[in-house]
Amino acid sequence: MFKVLQPADLAGLELRNRFIRSAAFDSMADQTGAVTDRSVELYDVLAAGGVGLIVTGYAFVSRHGQAIFGQYGIYSDEMIPGLRRLVQVAHRHGAKIALQIVHAGTFSGYMGRTGQVALGPSERGGRYPSRGLTEEEIERIIGDFAQAAVRAREAGFDAVQLHGAHGYLMSEFFSSVANRRQDRWGGSAENRRRFHVETVRRVRAAVGADFPLLIKFGVMDDKEGGSPLEEGIAALQAMAAAGLDAAEISGGLGTGRRGPIRVLADPSTEDAYYRERAAKAKAALSIPIAVVGGIRRLETAEDIVTSGDADFVSLCRPLIRQPDLINQWLSGDRRQPTCISCAKCLTLVERGEPLECGEELRIRVEGGG
Ligand SMILES: Cc1cc2nc3c(=O)[nH]c(=O)nc-3n(C[C@H](O)[C@H](O)[C@H](O)COP(=O)(O)O)c2cc1C
Repeated sequence: MFKVLQPADLAGLELRNRFIRSAAFDSMADQTGAVTDRSVELYDVLAAGGVGLIVTGYAFVSRHGQAIFGQYGIYSDEMIPGLRRLVQVAHRHGAKIALQIVHAGTFSGYMGRTGQVALGPSERGGRYPSRGLTEEEIERIIGDFAQAAVRAREAGFDAVQLHGAHGYLMSEFFSSVANRRQDRWGGSAENRRRFHVETVRRVRAAVGADFPLLIKFGVMDDKEGGSPLEEGIAALQAMAAAGLDAAEISGGLGTGRRGPIRVLADPSTEDAYYRERAAKAKAALSIPIAVVGGIRRLETAEDIVTSGDADFVSLCRPLIRQPDLINQWLSGDRRQPTCISCAKCLTLVERGEPLECGEELRIRVEGGG
C-alpha cells in the first residue's frame, strides 16, 4: 500500500491520506461573498472523491482584501452559516476542510473588477498599481486575519490556511521587489517577514493553542532580484516559532513559466516543479511540509513522501477535472490523471464563470499566474 494513500496526522488532524486539495477559487460565491447551493455541490463532490484535506478557495478577510467577485468572504459573522454548509458536506464524506484566508493586496482592485482602490505595501513594485498602506491599516488588516480565523473555527473548519503566496498581500510584504517600504514593515528580510510573524502570532492568540494554523507560502519571489529561498525558509522558521503548524510550499510573484499555475507542455517531465524548494524547507523545519505544483502521478507523490522531501502532496487542477482521483488510486487503478495542466479552468473563473475543467472549451489561455 502506498504511504501517500495511508492516514496521517497533520498538526493534530487525522487525515485519511496524505493528499490535499490545494485551494481553488471557484467563482461560485454570491455578490456578498456568501456560499451558494452550487458551492455546496462542488465541495460535496470533492469530499466524496477521497482527498484527505480540502483547502477552500481564498476567502477575503475584509472588504478591501477582495480580489474578484465570486470569491468567498469571511469578513463578517454573516458569512458563517453558509461556510458551515461546506464543512458539513466535507465531514459527511470523511474529509477534513481548511478555510484559506487572504487579503489580496494590490490585486484588491483586480483589473478594476471590484471597483476598489488597490492597497499594497508600497505604491509601486506589486503586480498592480496601488496605494501604500499606513501603519494603522496594516495593524487593522492583521486584526482582520485574526477575526477571520475565529470565524472559521466558529463555522467548524478543521484548520485555517493563510494565503501567503501568488502575489497577494502577504507575498507582497515578503517580496524585496514589491515591498519598498522604509519603515519596520519593509527593507531588511526581518522587516519583510514582520507582517507574517505578527499575523501568525495574532491569529494564534485569537484561536487558541489547539486550532491548526497553516500557510500556503511563496517561499521565494520567482522574480529577477527578488527574495531568495533562504529568506523564505527563515521566514517560515520565524512563523513556526510564533505558532504556525504547517506550510504548503508554492511560489511568489512570478508569472507564466515562473508562475505558480504553470501551463505544462509535458506533465511527465515538468511535474512537481516546487519539489526542490519544498525539500529544502523540509530539511530546515520541524513542522509538516506539503508541496503543490504540477504533481500528476501517484508514483511521484509516493516518492515525494517516502524520500522525505515533503510530508503531504497537494493537487489542484487534476481534482477539478477528476474529483474522484484519490478514490480511483485507492481502488488500485493507478492511471495518471487526464488533466493536461492547460489552466483553462483558471481562465474560466477569471471570466466569472463557475469552476470546471475547460479543456474541451475553445478558450484562449494566457499562461496563468
Ligand atoms: C482555477 C484555479 C483557482 C485557484 N485558486 C487558488 C486560490 O484560491 N488560492 C490559492 O492559494 N491557489 C489557487 N490556485 C493555485 C492552485 O492551488 C495550485 O497552487 C496551482 O494550480 C498548482 O497546482 P496544480 O498544478 O496541481 O494545479 C488556483 C488554481 C486554479 C487552476
